Amino acid sequence: MITVSGLRKTYHARRREVVAVNDVDLEVRPGEIFGVLGRSGAGKSTLLRCVNLLERPDAGTVLVDGVELTALSDRKLRAARRRVGMIHQHFALLSSRTVAGNVAFPLEVAGVPRTQRSARVAELLELVGLSDRAGAYPAQLSGGQKQRVGIARALAAEPTVLLSDEATSALDPDTTRSILDLLLDLNRRLGLTILLITHEMDVVKRVCHAAAVMREGRFTESGPVSELLLTEGSELAAGLFPLPAVQTRQGETAFDVTVSGPAADEPLLSELVRELGVDIRLLGGGVETLAATRAGRLRLAVAGRGEDAAGFLRRRGALVTEVTR
Ligand SMILES: Nc1ncnc2c1ncn2[C@@H]1O[C@H](COP(=O)(O)OP(=O)(O)OP(=O)(O)O)[C@@H](O)[C@H]1O
Ligand SMILES: [Mg+2]
Repeated sequence: MITVSGLRKTYHARRREVVAVNDVDLEVRPGEIFGVLGRSGAGKSTLLRCVNLLERPDAGTVLVDGVELTALSDRKLRAARRRVGMIHQHFALLSSRTVAGNVAFPLEVAGVPRTQRSARVAELLELVGLSDRAGAYPAQLSGGQKQRVGIARALAAEPTVLLSDEATSALDPDTTRSILDLLLDLNRRLGLTILLITHEMDVVKRVCHAAAVMREGRFTESGPVSELLLTEGSELAAGLFPLPAVQTRQGETAFDVTVSGPAADEPLLSELVRELGVDIRLLGGGVETLAATRAGRLRLAVAGRGEDAAGFLRRRGALVTEVTR
């Protein structure tokens, strides 16, 4: 649905050159929620602005729903961009317009006749749960309600994809959850494809089917969450399952055992103990229900037969890495 290849964007500021996006490839499949996780300054917003061509990349191509946006003239681009909705961290609502007026705005720009417009606005407000606030002004709304207006407005022109730039970072944890639940619901009900950027691991955990980690303009890892978790050295996996430092005893070997998908619900440890007759100490870890998979990562100390234990767990589909620190 979104295909980005070889994307590059450089800024020139006061004789300094910043390569904000450096040779990024990205594939978001139809109906997928894809999260780009990265620290401040990693290039996330620049990437997103290049995806809807608010910013022209220096190199690379962007295809959305089969249309190569990078090949379009500015005039054709304005029309094509209606197929791409966007929501923002600080909502970007028009303060002088009511909730209904904000949602109607893109429809007015697109020349939709008044009667059709009000029917569509009512439908959109219903979709985001704000039917009773149609006449309110942005200043009279909570942050979560403002973001609901932002979402309704972004969906007005029936986009095939929604881009989200830190849509929940200005919200408290409970409101964040309700907005993420709304995005999940829209994704399921409308089949909406969503590309979101965030600096919060929790956002990726709750809603993303696939993800990338961005650092200094580059993707350091990218793919379905269930696969990244089983990739050795994955930053995403380490961030999702923080582990304590190892403190092994004489004769013990420490392992990190990561499972994703059906293996996360298997009684792997009791089978291991029965099969090999080893003793295991649990040093840390967790099991989580993510958007697209169940997954867990445990740090174990195995007394004796460490290699056999690792082999057993690997045969059962776990990623096993020995911990030496
Ligand atoms: N218009 C601009 N002119 C010059 N430099 C810019 C411009 N926009 C962004 N940059 C630089 O490009 C880099 C990436 O910025 P970007 O805003 O994409 O990061 P980000 O990952 O979205 O960060 P944050 O999480 O803080 O929003 C930064 O070093 C930033 O200073
Ligand atoms: Mg940003």
